[in-house]
Amino acid sequence: MSTNKTLAEQIVIPSKTTESTSNNKPTKSSPNNNSAVWMQRTTLLALLLATVVVVFGAFVRLTDAGLGCPDWPGCYGLFDVPQTAEEIALAESTFDVAVEPQKAWNEMIHRYLASTLGFLILIINVFAFRTKKHRVLSIALLGMVIFQGMLGMWTVTLLLKPVIVMGHLLGGLTVTSMLLWLWFKQKYPINRYGLNRLSSFALIALFVLIVQIALGGWTSTNYAATACPDFPTCQNQIWPDDMDFAEGFVMWRGLGVNYEGGVLATPARIAIHYTHRLWAITTVIFIMLLGIFAVKHSKQMRFENAGGRLRNSALLMKLLLIVQLVVAIVMIKSGFKLGISTAHNAFALFLLLATVAVVYFSREND
Ligand code: HEM
Repeated sequence: MSTNKTLAEQIVIPSKTTESTSNNKPTKSSPNNNSAVWMQRTTLLALLLATVVVVFGAFVRLTDAGLGCPDWPGCYGLFDVPQTAEEIALAESTFDVAVEPQKAWNEMIHRYLASTLGFLILIINVFAFRTKKHRVLSIALLGMVIFQGMLGMWTVTLLLKPVIVMGHLLGGLTVTSMLLWLWFKQKYPINRYGLNRLSSFALIALFVLIVQIALGGWTSTNYAATACPDFPTCQNQIWPDDMDFAEGFVMWRGLGVNYEGGVLATPARIAIHYTHRLWAITTVIFIMLLGIFAVKHSKQMRFENAGGRLRNSALLMKLLLIVQLVVAIVMIKSGFKLGISTAHNAFALFLLLATVAVVYFSREND
């Protein structure tokens, strides 16, 4: 009997009931219900836009366009990019840097998209207060997107300081994950939820994945990708002799330094890149185990819909992990082609979202 027990049946913490309204399809009869419908639509739109903003942000970073505009929030003091000969001449004499219109456009398009996202999140808050639902998460989302905007500003004003740029990457992923959670709460409200053994393990796996993403961001923002141009070896060695972990993981190196192109010596960059590869092994173990446990658990759930959602999220998560590993290897073998490096960021985001979905649905105690 005990061997057939589901993970949910071994719950330690009692379930809470009704995370949200059980009716996720409000009728259109009252203004409140209309607001609920529009809140759900706006959340989905914001989620899609956040995905575009994060991936486009990676493109900006990888094309070294982060300083395409040396000021913030304008670009050389304009709300678009200097285009005419007079505008470019004035911008160059004022800011004492050469204007690169393509890089400036990349940076400004990222800012326009991010501002639109901020506006959508503001609208979500208006709906949340009209309907009196999901207010805490909506306000947290607004706070997070404002903080993210500040990180975007510091990215420019602190001249691409790695810890800020990595924070900006993590902040973008956090906003997107929160939007997914908010959308799930409206679309698939869970009636009986709480921590169980599966969801506790899912949270640990999520943490392991976040560390891997942070290490990826650290690799990228310290320009450490090409320090290991070969795979599976690095510098033709299984364990490179020349690794400087102490230098590689100094988080704060003072102000006034321009970090474009990186400032670290090769041994520090090798240590950073290699740590990201090593932690990938831990990530694979945890995500794969989570996928296996979640599929097993889903078969024992009483409600077919709940089990189906958990199973699909878990299968998608495992698939995305495999794709991400293939993309990583192709990225190295192809000599870090821009499109593939951007795809490595995109699949990190998709993998994160699928893992967040597993965490969400694993909390269902039916
Ligand atoms: C679960 C597995 C992995 C995840 C979630 C992950 C995630 C990430 C993320 C988020 C970035 C930052 C991208 C950006 O700046 O936009 C990154 C960068 C990078 N990752 Fe991974 N990664 C994984 C596995 C690997 C593996 C196995 C390798 C090597 C074999 C690898 C090599 C790299 C390199 C070289 C970069 C720097 C790219 C650049 O700056 O051009 N990653 N990774």
